[in-house]
Amino acid sequence: MNVAGTLRVPGDKSISHRSLMFAALSEGDSRITGILQSADVHSTAGVLRALGASIPELSDHFTVRGHGVQSLTQPQSALDCGNSGTTTRLMAGIVAGLPISATFIGDQSLSRRPMRRVAKPLEAMGARFDLPDHGGLPMTVHGGALHDVVWTTEQASAQIKSAILLAAVVGGVRASVTEPIKTRDYTERMLEARGVRVRVSGTTVSVDPGVVEPLDVDVPGDPSSAAFFAGLAAIAKHGVLRLEGVGVNDTRMGFFRRLARMGVTVAEENRRLNGGEWIADLVVSPGTLGPATIGEADVPAMVDELPLLACIATRANGETVITGANELRAKESDRITAVVTNLRAIGADAEELADGMRIRGTTTPLRGRVVTHGDHRLAMAFGILGAADGNDIEIDDRDCVAVSYPGFWSDLARVHSR
Ligand code: S3P
Repeated sequence: MNVAGTLRVPGDKSISHRSLMFAALSEGDSRITGILQSADVHSTAGVLRALGASIPELSDHFTVRGHGVQSLTQPQSALDCGNSGTTTRLMAGIVAGLPISATFIGDQSLSRRPMRRVAKPLEAMGARFDLPDHGGLPMTVHGGALHDVVWTTEQASAQIKSAILLAAVVGGVRASVTEPIKTRDYTERMLEARGVRVRVSGTTVSVDPGVVEPLDVDVPGDPSSAAFFAGLAAIAKHGVLRLEGVGVNDTRMGFFRRLARMGVTVAEENRRLNGGEWIADLVVSPGTLGPATIGEADVPAMVDELPLLACIATRANGETVITGANELRAKESDRITAVVTNLRAIGADAEELADGMRIRGTTTPLRGRVVTHGDHRLAMAFGILGAADGNDIEIDDRDCVAVSYPGFWSDLARVHSR
């Protein structure tokens, strides 16, 4: 398989969610350019509208007219978060700081995902939660008068950190959050850019009460979407792929850094600052692919790319071991069991570990059917693996890519040939 061409992947999902939320919390106009128009971001737009925010239909350029925190009011129906964990957990933080009660619902996958991790700190701040025994959805949040909090998170999760910081900002209190390993830092960076006083010291982030000001955002390309095409180049025979305008925030670049260590050529060109975030063009071409050893400290900077790394590892020379990745079990599917089961189903040599997996590279063609459980990143990771020479992989639900990358299959078809 050869790769060739230039791609501009869609906007960053994490920044897209936050750009809508922060625009709604501020008073004034925020122009948003290049937002990701995917199912997850539509979920955030819908939830904000249900709370009374005026979010226009999403398009390439639009303006959100914010009316401040006090304009968000009691919703008349449940808040449907679809498949989106980021919508649920960040909006739970926002609702916790408001004098309202709201019930969060979602699809089957989201409904089984753990919500106690946000309920615990938000309850410590003074909100109340009704959760089913399994700790997922439906979840009702009773917001109200909050108090200051100092919290240490058990999991390295940007969503938990963000929920606490947002509750503090909306509720007008102080919060200090310490995480075991630094996670993506968009919430703190975007709040600071909007005038909120934020302090960062090691893995501790603190916010003071303050008003969120409006700000224009130009959403960079999503590194987690670009990663799939870097992965495609990694398992190609020849060629070069150019991925333009990708966000290269350090907290997201773990997969690209690792690919380079595995023998793939990954060059960064035209590094530039774009509205407070570094972006660059990534130029990727194949080399001799070696294995990887991934431990707990590596996980946050590549958490969404681990299914892809596991797929690529089947084409590497040697054994790849991923450990310290328990968090994969709390994603859109149990990404440890699902990835290993699917790899084995197509003939790869893979083994499940309690907190990760082991994959031995092979040149045997990989063939068969993959069950995605509606998980977009599984569909795309196995879609990439299916493009490699000799492989023939059927994906049970190709449409689930709409969660984060609706144009994935046509982009894939455009940049590779057999
Ligand atoms: C996200 C954080 C990550 C990531 C998710 C988006 C965010 O989740 O997997 O796709 O925008 O904050 P965790 O914080 O639970 O690791």
